[in-house]
Amino acid sequence: MQSTVDANLEAKSIRSIVAAPDFQSGLNFFVNTLEFRIAMISPADDPDYAVLTREQFTIALDKKAESPPLLIEIPVEDQSLVGTNLVGPNGTRVNYVLANRNYKQRENREPIINLSLSENADWVHGRAGMSYRSLIGAHNEMLIASQIRIEGSGKVKDWVHYHDVSFQTLICINGAAKLVYEDQGEPFLFEKGDYILQPPGIRHQVLESFNDLEVVEFTSPSDHATFSDFGMKLPNSVEKEQRYFLGQHFSHSSSESCEEMVYQKSDSLNVYMTPIAAASGNIGWVNKICGHKGSEKKLTPSFEISENKLSFIMWFVTDGSAEIEVGGRKETFKTGDAISYPYGFHPSLQFSIAKHDSQFQVLEIGFLG
Ligand SMILES: [Fe+2]
Repeated sequence: MQSTVDANLEAKSIRSIVAAPDFQSGLNFFVNTLEFRIAMISPADDPDYAVLTREQFTIALDKKAESPPLLIEIPVEDQSLVGTNLVGPNGTRVNYVLANRNYKQRENREPIINLSLSENADWVHGRAGMSYRSLIGAHNEMLIASQIRIEGSGKVKDWVHYHDVSFQTLICINGAAKLVYEDQGEPFLFEKGDYILQPPGIRHQVLESFNDLEVVEFTSPSDHATFSDFGMKLPNSVEKEQRYFLGQHFSHSSSESCEEMVYQKSDSLNVYMTPIAAASGNIGWVNKICGHKGSEKKLTPSFEISENKLSFIMWFVTDGSAEIEVGGRKETFKTGDAISYPYGFHPSLQFSIAKHDSQFQVLEIGFLG
């Protein structure tokens, strides 16, 4: 016989089957213990099939089914519920987990200095045609600094998403990308020499890349979650350039010239301080240090970091070359090479620039953890 009324949306949705030979106790478990709602039940006198729903999850409780047991995870905000595990009909297991992941605390590790040379780089193929190279050596749960490449030009298979991070900055070192950000107006070009501070939670999407895009990206923590936002289409209509996202605001800037200030009393290096520090609420910074003539005068960069604050510092060479002295040995430091303190700077690990050419340019990325 044909139906007389249309089924509700829940009854038409995709569901997992839970076998329930003892139908009534199965129904009680889902409705009374797990707070599912009955979207449909049949037949009225002696039910053997019901569609039950909670939030975006739907099951069909079926007396006659012979399906294997389900494992259900219920995200909760209340930490005291985590670890509660229930067993329901047909061996259905229910685990309560934290809705927001707790990230590992940074372990107090001895500071080290890490030199990543471009010629020994290990490139890993990631999603959407991107290749990644770690610039800081071994995996560090608190932070990651990478060089990222997309060969050629073309559309990028990305979607509107956001990251659960405390500090994230991107610097374009080659090519360009068309990007769009929440509340920041129309899509724009992120080009060689541009800097972005991507505040926590801002929705964004990479639309296209051009001419062998290369980006240096720093993110803390490294083991962070990325969430999709299916409900937001970018560009959105709002333009609030100074909107704050957890105390930070979006910043996109460029510096083709580098003549702002003398770098640490040097007569051959200048420094351009980008707006990243101010946009991040001073938890991190990006400086561009540039040679305006060659020099053979030894320079030992000093970093003003308070003793008890964990920090990260990296120098990444974007042009030219230098000779550096580190741990009693000399190294050539050229385009694509990076030197970093992934577990914080310590004066005993200081490096020096013995000499550099006039093209020498480095990005300095710093983060106070
Ligand atoms: Fe992203």
